[in-house]
Amino acid sequence: MDAMALLLDRQSHASLEGPDPTAEQMEMLYRAALRAPDHGELRPWRFIEYRGRGRETLGEIFARAELEDNPDVSDKTLEKARSKPLRAPVVIAVIAAVKANHKVPRVEQVISAGCAAHAMLYAAHAQGLGAMWRTGGLAHHRHVRQSMDLGQDHELVGFLYLGHCARGDRDLKPLEPADFVERIEG
Ligand SMILES: Cc1cc2nc3c(=O)[nH]c(=O)nc-3n(C[C@H](O)[C@H](O)[C@H](O)COP(=O)(O)O)c2cc1C
Repeated sequence: MDAMALLLDRQSHASLEGPDPTAEQMEMLYRAALRAPDHGELRPWRFIEYRGRGRETLGEIFARAELEDNPDVSDKTLEKARSKPLRAPVVIAVIAAVKANHKVPRVEQVISAGCAAHAMLYAAHAQGLGAMWRTGGLAHHRHVRQSMDLGQDHELVGFLYLGHCARGDRDLKPLEPADFVERIEG
């Protein structure tokens, strides 16, 4: 695939299905992530891959977070939380593992992890896979963070849902660079 076409055409796919991405496809995804811009070569990235029954572990974490917020939460809400990670064959938590008190500020390290996630979306697209970056209301929840062993030097950048596209592409809304770019010229 042409590199510019890749950059211009990528889109998120919410409806994802099996089969599971292959080991080779996953390897390429992570290799793309590890090429993220990285001030100071701090490698501030960590990934947790949930697949198969592993996704149920994440779903249970989401359900317990709902329960912690509201002990009277409905069974329907709990089931919805439980089933969230089952929307794709693979879910990858992308985490910024920040080196504290470093001359490279925290925000730059978190951006680097965001770039890693973005690279993974492109690596998915380039390999004919579908992907979607999600956080949802629970990504920053105390219980979710604790269950994923995230301390104060970790930021959960998002969950990447990954699989094969169950639906075709949607028409993208055209955006114009001129609406976003300010030019200062001499
Ligand atoms: C940090 C981050 C978190 C996001 N979380 C969600 C989410 O929880 N739910 C959702 O529907 N979209 C979420 N999105 C947006 C989608 O990933 C996607 O970009 C959006 O639906 C637009 O589709 P497109 O990527 O095809 O332009 C998030 C995007 C980012 C960058």
